[in-house]
Amino acid sequence: MRTSLTFAGVSKSFPSPRGRMVVLDGLSLEVDAGGWTSLVGPSGCGKTTLAKIAAGILTADAGQVLVGGMGVERSRTVAYMPQHDTLLPWRSALENAILSADVDGRSRAQARSEARQLFVRFGLGGFEEQRPSTLSGGMRQRVALIRTFLTRRDILVLDEPFGALDALTRAGLQQWLSKIWMELGHTVLFITHDVEEAVLLSDRVAVCSSLPGRIRTEVQVMLPRPRSRVSAEVTAYRASLLETLAAGAIS
Ligand SMILES: Nc1ncnc2c1ncn2[C@@H]1O[C@H](COP(=O)(O)OP(=O)(O)OP(=O)(O)O)[C@@H](O)[C@H]1O
Ligand SMILES: [Mg+2]
Repeated sequence: MRTSLTFAGVSKSFPSPRGRMVVLDGLSLEVDAGGWTSLVGPSGCGKTTLAKIAAGILTADAGQVLVGGMGVERSRTVAYMPQHDTLLPWRSALENAILSADVDGRSRAQARSEARQLFVRFGLGGFEEQRPSTLSGGMRQRVALIRTFLTRRDILVLDEPFGALDALTRAGLQQWLSKIWMELGHTVLFITHDVEEAVLLSDRVAVCSSLPGRIRTEVQVMLPRPRSRVSAEVTAYRASLLETLAAGAIS
């Protein structure tokens, strides 16, 4: 089943020493069912705040978040991969991956069996019993992604999953995640500050303005996959989006 994710006029403010700070100001965005939408924008424009609202961790002050056109309980429909590595250091990689089975009260045996298959598919076969501290950054992110996939939610909200990785590891994981997504077909909201990454992976790229965050522009990326970062088309999309971001920074 594929499900859309819709933000309609979402606003959010936080208390600050200078009064309330408006972080999101009537933001609207559509993530199509089975599609991949990336949100790019400057640091602090409210991307993580939006991701947490999508996941039901934060509540919007105004506006609506709809799943499949309806206002349903999102913790049951949206899987959220946080920006920072949240693997539990005392659990093995496999035990980390099956966390949602514990939380949802599903069979651990079945979750372990599914996780073992995904470890192989995600290139982590043989590392199931290792603690996170003994894995590389790229491996830890893959474990966190397996954990996100194993939540069995239709919608994935991935907050800068490759943000902390070196360029080479990042490029490998981008290709790999794109391939897995084409096979599994989840609805993805992907948050990144890397425009090139957004062009390589997305059907649609939404550019967020600096604070307060609104969608400044949206671009459909009409290119076949897999995409090459050195192709003329990718370079052209990238240049045009960078121009939009730069224009937002000085206006
Ligand atoms: N719980 C909170 N209380 C107060 N202010 C907050 C809270 N969470 C976020 N903010 C503020 O909201 C703004 C947006 O933060 P957010 O983490 O959503 O930005 P971001 O776009 O994800 O940034 P980055 O690209 O650096 O990850 C920041 O100014 C931040 O300080
Ligand atoms: Mg963030």
